[in-house]
Amino acid sequence: MNETTVLDSATIQSLLEEERWFEASKTFREKANTNNSSLYDMAAHNREEFWATMAEGLDWYEKWRTVLEWNPPYAKWFVGGKLNASYNCLDRHVKNGMRNKAAIIWEGEPGDQRTLTYWDMYREVNKFANCLKRLGVQKGDRVAFYMPMIPELAIGMLACARLGAVHSVVFGGFSPEALRDRINDAQATVLVTADGGYRRGNLLPLKHDADLALRETPSIEHVIIVKRGDFPLHVKEGRDHWYHRLMQEADAYCEPEPMEAEDMLYILYTSGTTGKPKGIVHTTGGYLTGVYATTKYVFDLKPEDVFWCTADIGWVTGHSYIVYGPMANGATQIMYEGSPDWPDRDRFWELVEKYGVTIFYTAPTAIRAFMKWGDEWPAKHDLHTLRLLGSVGEPINPEAWTWYHEYIGGNRCPIVDTWWQTETGSIMITPLPGVTRLKPGSATIPFPGVDADIFSEDGTRVDTGGGYLVVKSPWPSMLRGIYGDPERFKQQYWSKYEGIYFTGDGAKRDENDYFWLLGRVDDVMNVSGHRISTMEVESALVDHESTAESAVVGIHHDVKGQAIAAFVTLKEGYEADGKLEKKLKDHVVQKIGVIARPEKIIFSADLPKTRSGKIMRRLLRDIAEGKALGDTTTLADASVVEKLKRTYEEEYSA
Ligand code: WTA
Repeated sequence: MNETTVLDSATIQSLLEEERWFEASKTFREKANTNNSSLYDMAAHNREEFWATMAEGLDWYEKWRTVLEWNPPYAKWFVGGKLNASYNCLDRHVKNGMRNKAAIIWEGEPGDQRTLTYWDMYREVNKFANCLKRLGVQKGDRVAFYMPMIPELAIGMLACARLGAVHSVVFGGFSPEALRDRINDAQATVLVTADGGYRRGNLLPLKHDADLALRETPSIEHVIIVKRGDFPLHVKEGRDHWYHRLMQEADAYCEPEPMEAEDMLYILYTSGTTGKPKGIVHTTGGYLTGVYATTKYVFDLKPEDVFWCTADIGWVTGHSYIVYGPMANGATQIMYEGSPDWPDRDRFWELVEKYGVTIFYTAPTAIRAFMKWGDEWPAKHDLHTLRLLGSVGEPINPEAWTWYHEYIGGNRCPIVDTWWQTETGSIMITPLPGVTRLKPGSATIPFPGVDADIFSEDGTRVDTGGGYLVVKSPWPSMLRGIYGDPERFKQQYWSKYEGIYFTGDGAKRDENDYFWLLGRVDDVMNVSGHRISTMEVESALVDHESTAESAVVGIHHDVKGQAIAAFVTLKEGYEADGKLEKKLKDHVVQKIGVIARPEKIIFSADLPKTRSGKIMRRLLRDIAEGKALGDTTTLADASVVEKLKRTYEEEYSA
């Protein structure tokens, strides 16, 4: 990208205008956990005091001496404080009258069901911690997980936390190679897996795949296998153990290890859309404070709520908003094993109706799939119990936002569009639903105590307009490093601006001081010297009635520097032809301006995505520029790219 051709002080030009406002109902606001500016005021007055107040919502064995020690880029929060994450997620609820409250209401894809109360979780976690101990796991050891979405994954993570062992969860959809590399990077000594899991009616042969990885993972001493189904597998004597057998012999109680606030809680690998995976390190006290406080205030969580975060626990969203945040708050939540379109496209809505879900948190990629499938699917179900919706993972286009608001939320539920990252640990930019007025497509403003800002290339503040999203002060749940790679940690996050966290995302600030996320900085296009965010052109396309999803990339252009190529997935019932192509181009011109007119539109039934649902624009760029494909190992479905490549070559090779 040619930095010198930036036309104005704004690092990224912002072109799309959004004028609509939404507000929670009076009743919602009156009952909300917070409904005035007091949290913002407290944080503005003294950020550290604010976070200390949040930390007081947890149970500590010993109180901290110092709230924050900050030697950029290294932060220590709640120094001297001691606590245990599993104690905070379980013991204290069991003691406080919630032992019989449902913690996890689980449903498997084939329709099997289990409900685990806080007492059940407490008992299982204690026993499993004893199993790990018996196999030699000690404080600080790394335990890898390669699991389907079943309660034993949450149990296993909390059991590690109880002992002070560090969990490293590898998403069950990853390949054996990906598992192998992550086990080796963390030098894990134990792997917890399952015989298999269900996804879209198929079985994921997890133990079979794990065995492939285990050929080249010398650090692993023991493998524990949870029996999920009747999947065939090989058991290696001495190394492999059945979970249920170990549990039969395990003692009922395991004393939780009092952990220093800064002791490591987990490693989670993030590859993003490019490059070698990074083992993001989170510690105990600050992380738990961040997820505890954001769950309570962003999701307005009440004792009677039924919370459902649809993410897989293999991603940070599942770590923070299935395992640690909701459980630290004593929530009742839904956990679902399978895919949203199995056996039919209304599976999620069936679950919402059946369990009376009140808070529903999902990703834009899922919302756009629901839009594509049509509103008849949610219409089949009574969704009146929902009172709050959330979105995370990508910018949510205003069109998808309003669809979600109307067809899922019945025009009644506020939407919290939450911006954050694996690295940030907890939600950073978000509405507080009883306080913040909403604009579709904007994540609104930073959570209290989060010092987010927008900088131009040279580090000056962008008052209104586009630039780079940064965080200027440390926050409790921030990453403490990249496991085993301090240089990369500094290089990646702290080298662009001195002492300031660089998110790698573009954002713009509007005249109301609201933040609009513009996508990864690496994806920004440069058309005739205008830096245009992919997100805004995509939103303009999705704004057209025919379009369900789109991904836009900048491709080389002799005159303009870059031209825009748009990949478009149509809603059911629309025909891809030259007429529609022209209409879509005109629509973008009308919404944004002639500068953003796509040079090419490529219709595609699917877009290449990472397994967590993020569009891989890098691959689309390669396709559109006719290059050999780069690294495709993090792709969810490699055939999508091959198909696209062929279609593209047929159409544009002439
Ligand atoms: C993107 C997921 C716009 C962003 C929690 C970020 C978002 C990356 C939003 C982190 C949002 C996440 N609006 N973009 N509400 N939420 N992102 O590590 O590019 O899987 O940097 O963490 O997702 O993805 P990660």
